[in-house]
Order: sequence, then structure tokens, then C-alpha cells
Amino acid sequence: MVVDVVTLFPEYFSGPLNCSVLARAQVAGALRVRLWNLRDFTPDKHGKVDDTPYGGGPGMVLRPEPFFAAVAALAPPEGTPVILLTPQGEPLTQRRAAALAKQERIVVLCGHYEGVDERVRGRLATEELSIGDYVLSGGEPAALVLIDAVARLLPGVLGNEASPEEESFSTGLLEYPQYTRPAEYAGLEVPEVLRRGHHAEVRRWRRKEALRRTYLRRPELLPRAALTEEDRQLLAEIIEELSETT
Ligand SMILES: C[S@@+](CC[C@H](N)C(=O)[O-])C[C@H]1O[C@@H](n2cnc3c(N)ncnc32)[C@H](O)[C@@H]1O
Repeated sequence: MVVDVVTLFPEYFSGPLNCSVLARAQVAGALRVRLWNLRDFTPDKHGKVDDTPYGGGPGMVLRPEPFFAAVAALAPPEGTPVILLTPQGEPLTQRRAAALAKQERIVVLCGHYEGVDERVRGRLATEELSIGDYVLSGGEPAALVLIDAVARLLPGVLGNEASPEEESFSTGLLEYPQYTRPAEYAGLEVPEVLRRGHHAEVRRWRRKEALRRTYLRRPELLPRAALTEEDRQLLAEIIEELSETT
């Protein structure tokens, strides 16, 4: 997959792109990230890319021309997602990341200052994504979040070391609690069922704890999760157990 990032700060990406999963994904040839400096596409001879907002108000707004020129120069094939990062966009979800991981190429536009001229949103971007209900100074951290969430889903990137299918949100639920050695730490024990290692019991325990965690922390996820008859029974057990402890 090729990810073209249009940004005022290409240098922002050098550390994160060169370690851990993102570095491995690039070495393996599954991911290629190309960084494009917005300033290289401005018609302004001083490299200016922003201007004051029409109507007045604080801060500066990024002009439309450099974004249009950058995307024209990249010439993405018809159907390529051109994603504007903005706190006003659709929330980035695991489902959206999985859909984007099927693309051969995506273009990511990073804003800065007070944001980006509205015509970029209306004409150039095919979608707008937000990484959460808070405001960042620029789209760069959001682009890294997006690239990481997508890259780890590309075939071969995680190898055998982790399975994205079981992780939080992939099944529509939060993931079950994880433990490793030692079996007892500071008086806290690893649940016995995990230490016994009986495959079917471990599977049932994990499913039940994933349901419990989701029910307690993110109940709004449950109506959209694909629950089996067994899941419904486990949920009923959980609700019964909770009512006994209150
Ligand atoms: C300071 S923000 C602009 C916020 C804008 N004035 C508003 O109120 O919606 C500057 C840039 O950071 C990026 N950004 C900020 N928060 C974001 C978020 N939650 N998700 C994605 N991008 C974000 C966007 O690219 C945005 O153009």
C-alpha cells in the first residue's frame, strides 16, 4: 500500500515511521509512505501557504491552491481515498481502518493552524476523518495514528506475533484481559482457568470476559456486535453475577 501524506511538517514523521511495526511494514514492502511538503506546491513565491480568514477572526487558514496542486501532482487513480484529517470528520474506527487497508493507495491531507479552506473539504477530499473528540495542533499526529491503524492490518505485517482478528473492536467487542508470567505478582494471581490451559475453558472464559468488559465499559458497542446464542447466555450470566454483587 502506498500512503501519500501532504503536510507542512514532513520531518514530524521521521521518528515514528522508523521504528516498530511501521518500520517493519516498510522493510517488508507492505507499506510505502511518501511525504510531500505542502510548501512545495504553493504558487506564492515566498512559500506562503496560509492567509487570514475571510470575515475576520483569529489565526490563519491554509489556502486551497497548494492542496489542489499537490493532489493534482500525485495524480491518484480514480477511486483513491483522499482523506482530510479534521476534528469535524467521521470518527476513525477499526472498521474504517480495515476498509482502508484493502486500498492500494490513499492520500492523506494534514491541516494546521485554524484549519483548511473549506473548498478542500468540499471538492478535493473524498472523506474526512477524525481520530477523536479533541483538537490537535496539526493533522500530523492524526496521520500517524491512521497509518499505524491501517498498516498493522496489511497482510504479513504482524506475522505470527499478534492476531488483529481477536483484538478490541475487530470482533465488535473489547478484548479479554491478558496475563503473562509470573503466575502470582504482589498477591495478585492469574485466573486459574488460564493456568490450567484447557483449550475450550480458556476460549469460553476469554469470550465471557470480553463480553463483561464491553458491557461494563462500552455497552453501546454490544448492539452492533455479532453475538451468538452462547454469547447471549454468557451475557445473561454476567448480568446475574453483577446483580448479586450489588
Ligand atoms: C487546530 S486544528 C483546527 C481545528 C479547527 N479550527 C476546528 O475547530 O475544527 C488544525 C488541524 O489539526 C488537525 N486535527 C486537529 N484535531 C484533529 C482530530 N481530532 N482528528 C484529526 N485531525 C485533527 C486537522 O488537520 C486540522 O486542520
